[in-house]
Amino acid sequence: MFSRIVRPSLVAARNFSTTKQNNFKVAVCGASGGIGQPLSLLLKINPLVSELSLYDIVHTPGVAADLSHIETAAKVKGFNGAENIKDALRNADVIIIPAGVPRKPGMTRDDLFNMNAGIVKALAEAAAEVAPNALIGIITNPVNSAVPIACEVLKKAGKLDPKRVFGVSTLDAVRANTFVAEAKGLNPKDVNVTVIGGHSGITIIPLLSRVTPAVTFPEDQLKALTVRIQEAGTEVVKAKAGAGSATLSMAFAGARFANSLLRGLKGEPNVIEPSYVISDVTEAPTSPHPSCWARKASRRTWGWAN
Ligand SMILES: NC(=O)c1ccc[n+]([C@@H]2O[C@H](COP(=O)([O-])OP(=O)(O)OC[C@H]3O[C@@H](n4cnc5c(N)ncnc54)[C@H](O)[C@@H]3O)[C@@H](O)[C@H]2O)c1
Repeated sequence: MFSRIVRPSLVAARNFSTTKQNNFKVAVCGASGGIGQPLSLLLKINPLVSELSLYDIVHTPGVAADLSHIETAAKVKGFNGAENIKDALRNADVIIIPAGVPRKPGMTRDDLFNMNAGIVKALAEAAAEVAPNALIGIITNPVNSAVPIACEVLKKAGKLDPKRVFGVSTLDAVRANTFVAEAKGLNPKDVNVTVIGGHSGITIIPLLSRVTPAVTFPEDQLKALTVRIQEAGTEVVKAKAGAGSATLSMAFAGARFANSLLRGLKGEPNVIEPSYVISDVTEAPTSPHPSCWARKASRRTWGWAN
């Protein structure tokens, strides 16, 4: 079963660290997209990245050429088309996946399932073969289903390590921090809201009673804030009016998540980041619908977060 847990990812990543390595290969799948391009830009300027491997089915040579002119150490390589997927992912330390179709107005994240499930499956199959030790962060929606798909593929290949597969739910926490800071007149960088659960509607559970610094809200404001955090993705989808879903804020969140993984791999202690992961401490789901799967706050639990 799957659920989002409180900040397990980096604890898990740190457990893989055996050296003080600070040069990592990061692959971005879907690198030419609305999320993929700004995410790749942010990774190009990350000093922990020595090799940035960009994979997509379109435009990757151009994105790679453009980014390669930036005066940072990371070497950028572009890989275009399914025939090059294994070369793109080979021996990657971290694989971030924003490949797939985004929501349009009127669609739920679950509506994306049929379109995006096959994309995640193919990427997970390639990762199992050529990068079995990679930490895999899945941005593609519906995250609540995409992570189980990737895990099943890895399991079938005999390569599943649940501590290495993450649903990237960081954007929910980023949004919650921003909205709480706005409501209380605080600097968002000083605010930390833990968000547990999944990455879809009411499965997104911001723990507004446990915000740092401690804040309180009247009941009506608490409800409105909770709903806004849960529906923030739809707010962007409506505002973009058919031009897609959150891309820039998601790129920021994806880069923050990837950086946390790299810091964990590097051996940095106490790096904490929520994510949606496999859980073995919650009860079995009573519904076959993945977004109904249980979530729990525990370091040993895997849960959904986005
Ligand atoms: N986890 C989150 O919080 C979150 C937030 C926003 C969006 N998303 C999701 O991220 C995904 C990407 O969104 P976007 O706005 O960047 O979409 P986009 O359409 O702008 O970009 C998607 C990219 O994926 C590529 N792609 C398609 N099929 C592929 C394949 N088989 N292999 C490799 N690449 C492939 C496309 O060519 C495109 O460049 C969507 O599923 C969206 O719903 C998740």
